[in-house]
Amino acid sequence: MTDPASALAPRVQAAIVAALGDEFEGADPVIRPFTLKPKKGQQAVPAPAADLQINAAMALAKRAGRPPREVAQAIVDALREQGIDDLATDLEVAGPGFVNVTLADSWVADAAQDLLADDRVGVPTPPAQVIPLDYSSPNVAKEMHVGHLRTTVVGDSLARTLERLGHRVVRQNHIGDWGTPFGMLVEHLLEVGEASEEAALLETDPNEFYKAANAKYKASKDDSAPDSFAARARKRVTLLQSGDPDTLRIWERLLDRSKAYFNRVYTELGVTLTDADLDGESRYNDELGPICEDLERTGVAEISDGALCVFLDGFTGRDGQPLPVIVRKSDGGYGYATTDIAALRHRSLDLDADRVIYVVGAPQNLHFRMVWAATRKAGWLRDKTEPLHVQIGNVLGTDGKILRTRSGDLVSLQSLVDAAIEKAGTVVAESRPDLDEQQRASIAEAVGVGAIKYADLSVSHDSEYVFDLDRMVALTGNTGPYLQYAAARIRSILRRADAAETPGPIVLTEPAERTLALRLLDYGKVVAEVGESLEPHRLAAYLFDLAQAFTGFYEQCPVLKAEPAEVKASRLALCALTLRVLVDGLSLLGISAPEEM
Ligand code: ARG
Repeated sequence: MTDPASALAPRVQAAIVAALGDEFEGADPVIRPFTLKPKKGQQAVPAPAADLQINAAMALAKRAGRPPREVAQAIVDALREQGIDDLATDLEVAGPGFVNVTLADSWVADAAQDLLADDRVGVPTPPAQVIPLDYSSPNVAKEMHVGHLRTTVVGDSLARTLERLGHRVVRQNHIGDWGTPFGMLVEHLLEVGEASEEAALLETDPNEFYKAANAKYKASKDDSAPDSFAARARKRVTLLQSGDPDTLRIWERLLDRSKAYFNRVYTELGVTLTDADLDGESRYNDELGPICEDLERTGVAEISDGALCVFLDGFTGRDGQPLPVIVRKSDGGYGYATTDIAALRHRSLDLDADRVIYVVGAPQNLHFRMVWAATRKAGWLRDKTEPLHVQIGNVLGTDGKILRTRSGDLVSLQSLVDAAIEKAGTVVAESRPDLDEQQRASIAEAVGVGAIKYADLSVSHDSEYVFDLDRMVALTGNTGPYLQYAAARIRSILRRADAAETPGPIVLTEPAERTLALRLLDYGKVVAEVGESLEPHRLAAYLFDLAQAFTGFYEQCPVLKAEPAEVKASRLALCALTLRVLVDGLSLLGISAPEEM
């Protein structure tokens, strides 16, 4: 790890052993960023007087049988004894037993210099894991709505980040492509004809196709004639389930058109999912019967009110009654949970997963916890497999309610993206009247999509947020376009620099340079944290901080006009490094950084 805390940690551990004895081997050095609370009556936090704080003394004092301040002093003495000048210029015992650490400028400069030479800009490679990642997962013949936008965007960022950390991510787009509605959908497709305009709706306006099929079904539901639409639709379900070749062929046509629709959205959003990542519900269809038989035979499941149920410890309904996973309904049909048990069994046993991650709306949390417990009870979950639900919160309209259209439908993802690109277009037209139309259009697309994604990613994934286009596309504030703009500005500085000037080596002469360099050193640690916590908003917050540190640097330190030449070369190197970290970080969020803005 390239951050200072990681460099300091082994030295402090050695000092603790030297100061307190061998039994303190491996003690946590408790290194934290230096923080100061504002004094009573004081408004702002004073400028930090140090960089890091070693807090181990307070934790170890009792065990060591010595007062904390004395322990802190002993650690400082041991650090000095070992030699610490290369890393820290100042160590000061403060308060109840903190050690305040001021890093050596030369260490910070050298570490930044090393980072510039590092292809991975400090991103570590922890022990590699196999991680099936279930995300996006829209439903066939249904519009992707704003909820799917967030599971898609957050999931894709996690896929990119985990892959960058060296894990083997198996993308699992668990689309809803099976179940009773497919009877009416197939029958409707047959009736309108595969080549008809109505069928083409599957690719452009799938909700309309679904609604038309559903309307026919509802209208004929009570019609007892054996050839009514509803009767034929019900028969189709049976045919589909028994694998009738003709029915399957039409179902596949339906699927193909839906896939074309999903892929168009993914391409437009720059999402890394392809057909190879499909892990639709239908894939597990053949396993559901045998799974139920197994569960019943081994006594994991039992019949209750005609349904086959798995009862689990710790799951009770609101009425206090046990809440089972129903794996086979009393009519013989299998449900969403049965498919998810099959999918988890596959991911754990066949794919040999270390973590199985579900990026799905928060309301499905109970469903997942029950599916995991049932799969574990059946013995189909490896000990090492850890299932995790990344809970996605709602996207709200400016009225504070779930985003819906005037007619009450959930707002489609496509319409949101279109609106964002349009809005970004007006922003770009204002900021860059000098560019031609085509250039502006391509920037507007990157900015519009970046704005939406960043809005999704900059708040913690489980909290709700208000979808406010005006705020999202603004070039100032904590927005995607602000970060894209910071990157474009650095690009323009580097373009204007003399081609003959090679950036670096990095030397630190001004506080703003030091602040920027220190932020840059933290990048790898932040990416690693996202890989653990599965919280992309930490990376977003870091990048926003970095862009602000860059702004501070740029305001206080001229780059192209800097003198002497060494200072200019160093500042160009800081610019180049900032650009690399910004562009890399944005790419992990799935956001592109246009050359110009
Ligand atoms: N298709 C479901 C929906 O739209 C999401 C599926 C999530 N993944 C899973 N393994 N259940 O709500």
